[in-house]
Amino acid sequence: MNKLWGGRFQKETNQLVEEFTASITFDQQLAMEDIEGSLAHVEMLGACGILDTEDVQKIQTGLKTIKQRIERHEVEFLIEHEDIHMNIEKLLLDEIGTVGGKLHTARSRNDQVATDMHLYLRNQTKSLIHLLENVQEAILSQAKKNVGTVLPGYTHLQRAQPVSFAHHLLAYFWMFERDKERLKDSLKRINWLPLGAGALAGTTYPTNPDLVREQLGFERVYPNSMDAVSDRDFIVEFLANASLIMVHISRLSEELVIWSSQEFQFIELDDSFCTGSSIMPQKKNPDVPELLRGKTGRVFGNLIGLLTVLKGLPLAYNKDLQEDKEGMFDTVKTLQGSLRLLAPLLDTMSVNKEQMRRAVAQDYSNATDLADYLAEKGLAFREAHAIIGKIVYYAIQKGKFLNELPLEDYRSFSPLFAEDLYRILEPEHVVGARKNYGATAPERVLEQIQLAQQCLNQQ
Ligand code: ARG
Repeated sequence: MNKLWGGRFQKETNQLVEEFTASITFDQQLAMEDIEGSLAHVEMLGACGILDTEDVQKIQTGLKTIKQRIERHEVEFLIEHEDIHMNIEKLLLDEIGTVGGKLHTARSRNDQVATDMHLYLRNQTKSLIHLLENVQEAILSQAKKNVGTVLPGYTHLQRAQPVSFAHHLLAYFWMFERDKERLKDSLKRINWLPLGAGALAGTTYPTNPDLVREQLGFERVYPNSMDAVSDRDFIVEFLANASLIMVHISRLSEELVIWSSQEFQFIELDDSFCTGSSIMPQKKNPDVPELLRGKTGRVFGNLIGLLTVLKGLPLAYNKDLQEDKEGMFDTVKTLQGSLRLLAPLLDTMSVNKEQMRRAVAQDYSNATDLADYLAEKGLAFREAHAIIGKIVYYAIQKGKFLNELPLEDYRSFSPLFAEDLYRILEPEHVVGARKNYGATAPERVLEQIQLAQQCLNQQ
C-alpha cells in the first residue's frame, strides 16, 4: 500500500474513488503557498525543540529544492497522491528519505490546507487591489479629458438632466474605491492563522503557533482550533466582494454597449478591442464589454456554490470543504482577466463629444431648471412644476424644444417668464447650476477629480 495513509487499509483504493476524491488537478495552484507554510512550520518545530536542527535543515533544503523543481515545471503531480499536500510530502520523501516524514509532525492536512488558502487569498487580494487601481486610473484619465463634455443623464433610461461625462464616469471610480476598501478590510480576517489547530482539537506537541504567525505575516492565530479548520468565511467574503466588483464591471459594460450602439454613438470602442461578424461585413461588435457582463454569472454562481456547500456542515473538517477551491480559483481568474481588459478598454475608447452635445440639445432635460426658474421668482416649486409640465406638453404638440418656444408663449403660461429664461435652458448652464457637494457642475467635478487623484496617490 503506497498511500501515505495506507497503513490501516487491506485493499487498494478503487480507481473511481481515487479520481473522484483527488484534488491535485486543481489544488496544484497552491504549491508555493503549501511550501511556504511547511517551511514556517518546520522552522517552528525546530525552535520548539520538537525536531533537531539537522532534521530541520534537511527538510528545509529538500522543500526548497522541490520548490525550484516545481517552478521549472520538472515535477509531475500524481492523482494517486490525491492532493498538493501529499504530492509535496511524497516528493520530499523521495528527495531526502525518511526524515521527510517528520515534516507532518504536529499538523494535519486540515490546518495545512486552510493555511494554504489563507496565504493564497492574501496574495490574490493584494494583486486584485492593484488591478482595481489600474481601472480607476483609466476612469480618471478619461474623466480629466471630459469635465466639460455634456451628455444626457438618464433615470429609467429616459432623458433626465444633462450631466458632465466626467461626472458619469467618476461614479464608477467610487464604486471601485469601495470595492478596494472591502478587499482591504477582508485582509484582517484573511490574516488569521489556522496552522497549529491540527486535525481539529490541537496537538500534543509543545508547539508555538505564534512563531509561525510571525514568519508568515499573519495578524493573529485562530483562538479556536475547530473553527480554524472549518472556517471558510474568508473565502465566502472574497467571493461576495468579487461578486460586487463584477456587478460594477457589468453595469459599466452595459453602458459601454449602449453608448457604442448606432442609436447612441456616444463612444467608439477601439478596433483592437472589438470583433467582427462571420456573416455581416459591416459589424463591429462590443464583445469585450458583453463578455464582461456575461462573466458576472459564473462569479455569482461560485458564491452561491460555496454558501451551499457550507450550509449544514457539522464541525469540523469534512471533505465537502475541498469544494471551496475550484470556484475560488475560477473567480480569481475571471476577475483578474476582467480587470486587466477593462482598464485598456476604457483608456482606448474615443468619446464623441459632439454627438453627446447634440443629444442633449434635442430633449426636454432642461425642464427642471425652468421649474426652478419660476420657483426662484416666488412660485411654490410644486406649482412651478405643474406649469412647466403643461409647457412641455404644449411644446411636444408643436414639435418644438423648450428653447424654440417664443417668449409670448411662455408668458401665456405665466407672467413671471422673461427673456433671461433662454439662458437657463442652455445645457452647459443646466450642468453648471448644480454646484452642491458631489454634483455635476464643472468646478465640483474638478474637485472630485482631485479627491480621486488623492485616493490613488495614497495607495
Ligand atoms: N484536499 C483536501 C482539501 O482540499 C485537503 C484536506 C484533506 N483532509 C482530509 N482529512 N482529508 O480539503
